[in-house]
Amino acid sequence: MPAITASAPGKIILFGEHAVVYGRPAIAVPVNQVAARAIAIAEPRQPSGTVIIQAPDISLESSLSDLPPDHPLAIAVISVLERLEITRPPAFTLRISSTIPVAAGLGSGAAVSVAIIRVVSAFLGRPLPNEQVSELAYEVEKRYHGTPSGIDNTVITYNMPVYFVRGQPVAIFHVARPFTIVIGDTGIKSPTATAVGDLRKFWQADPIPYERLFDQTGQIAEAARRLIESGRTAELAPLMQDNHRLLQEMGVSSPELDHLVQTAQASGALGAKLSGGGRGGNMIALVDPQQAESVAEALKLAGARSTIITKVGGI
Ligand code: PMV
Repeated sequence: MPAITASAPGKIILFGEHAVVYGRPAIAVPVNQVAARAIAIAEPRQPSGTVIIQAPDISLESSLSDLPPDHPLAIAVISVLERLEITRPPAFTLRISSTIPVAAGLGSGAAVSVAIIRVVSAFLGRPLPNEQVSELAYEVEKRYHGTPSGIDNTVITYNMPVYFVRGQPVAIFHVARPFTIVIGDTGIKSPTATAVGDLRKFWQADPIPYERLFDQTGQIAEAARRLIESGRTAELAPLMQDNHRLLQEMGVSSPELDHLVQTAQASGALGAKLSGGGRGGNMIALVDPQQAESVAEALKLAGARSTIITKVGGI
């Protein structure tokens, strides 16, 4: 049997992170310059039920049965076996690799889960539809992120821009005019669960001001959707500034993120904000395509570990 491969892109949140955990809308788009990849290779000489997992990026080589059952890679594989009610799969090796930076707001965990769920279900001859792929990836996210909204597994599974409201069916929307985003990585690893958990404590202690910040964020995401659907992209810039300010007020920015956001603006970006869980990880800047390289260069000079230039919408 030939090897089977599946991959899943990274993602960025354009508007609405954190407030999305509290039921407000958010907009996320895939980033296809980076990806997680999973390959399943049949091992006909091994006894059935044998699953070998290789993840050279994290120096892991282990049989599934030797991995702790709460290991994220194990959970993803087991979730598929359980969903398909298969107890002894034909033996196979599962090789996982990813170019998505970890703990940086680019959805690396969800992308790895989606790639695994796709490849394992395809290898077993019963490829799962997107809805179920996303649902299983969400289960893995829940084990690792505490209270994830589900936006990462959704945008990564569908590989399309999504307007996401927790608990509602996925809404894919139309990007009327493609636009260019520069992503800058602070290089600071920041687990999303920590920022989400801290914000939850602030909110529990004093809900009213935080509810107001979440409402304002949700209104920005709604307005942004209308602008993107009608091709009025330049008008997204002030919304990015406003969204960043609200995230600062929520306490999830950091000096490094603020510095890169300011640098982007000073070097010709139309607008900029942090993206994802915050505290570290990535920021994004909306740019005219001809400014993309120079903004990326300025971000690097200002300390960005790496940059990615990506186009939203179009091909
Ligand atoms: O995975 P990240 O770092 O892009 O963060 C996800 C966005 C949050 O809104 C902060 C959390 C969530 O589950 O939606």
